[in-house]
Amino acid sequence: MLIRKETAADYDAVYSVVKRAFENAEHSDGNEQDLVNALRKGNAFIPELSLVAESEGKIVGHIMFTKATVEEKIVLALAPLSVLPEYQQKGIGKSLIQEGHKIAKKLGYTHSIVLGSEKYYSKHGYMPAENFGIKAPFDVPSENFMVYIINKYDDEIHGTIRYAQEFGIN
Ligand SMILES: CC(C)(COP(=O)(O)OP(=O)(O)OC[C@H]1O[C@@H](n2cnc3c(N)ncnc32)[C@H](O)[C@@H]1OP(=O)(O)O)[C@@H](O)C(=O)NCCC(=O)NCCS
Repeated sequence: MLIRKETAADYDAVYSVVKRAFENAEHSDGNEQDLVNALRKGNAFIPELSLVAESEGKIVGHIMFTKATVEEKIVLALAPLSVLPEYQQKGIGKSLIQEGHKIAKKLGYTHSIVLGSEKYYSKHGYMPAENFGIKAPFDVPSENFMVYIINKYDDEIHGTIRYAQEFGIN
């Protein structure tokens, strides 16, 4: 299994991977695949941080980190993360997260924020964001809004996250 940067040739396959991954997901609005398409066209997109998992030439997973802000500071938002149902439970999600963190570290980002299962993301170093002064722009149990510290940072970071406009939240 290979984790690599997504290319334009992968877009259709990624669309269907995201759609199928979220079809039976606990939390889904059914539009995650369209969100990925919209994010790619926006200012928050970071090509190096849209990654695919490839197995025997087939795209089986995808992860995207986009730029968000807390006050004026840039942070990453991890969303969405998708693995084809028949490829789940094999560590592909974990590999996508870890590779994403590695690249993000090289690029100098300091924080990755995620909204998701505390059971899943805590295994990958995510901690409640409120402990780091970062608030969600919507009501959410504090354990589900999490941050991973990618690089040490000097500046204080306090405030409510502003997601890319494509998320339709702000
Ligand atoms: C979440 C997802 C990306 C995980 O991918 P994966 O490749 O199966 O994950 P991994 O193999 O790295 O890890 C599997 C572990 O995570 C756990 N896990 C998977 N999804 C979980 C969830 N929604 N809540 C809690 N734990 C979860 C599994 O039980 C398993 O735990 P174990 O190692 O103790 O057995 C995948 O299940 C998926 O695409 N789900 C649908 C879309 C979705 O919900 N995305 C996340 C939105 S934030």
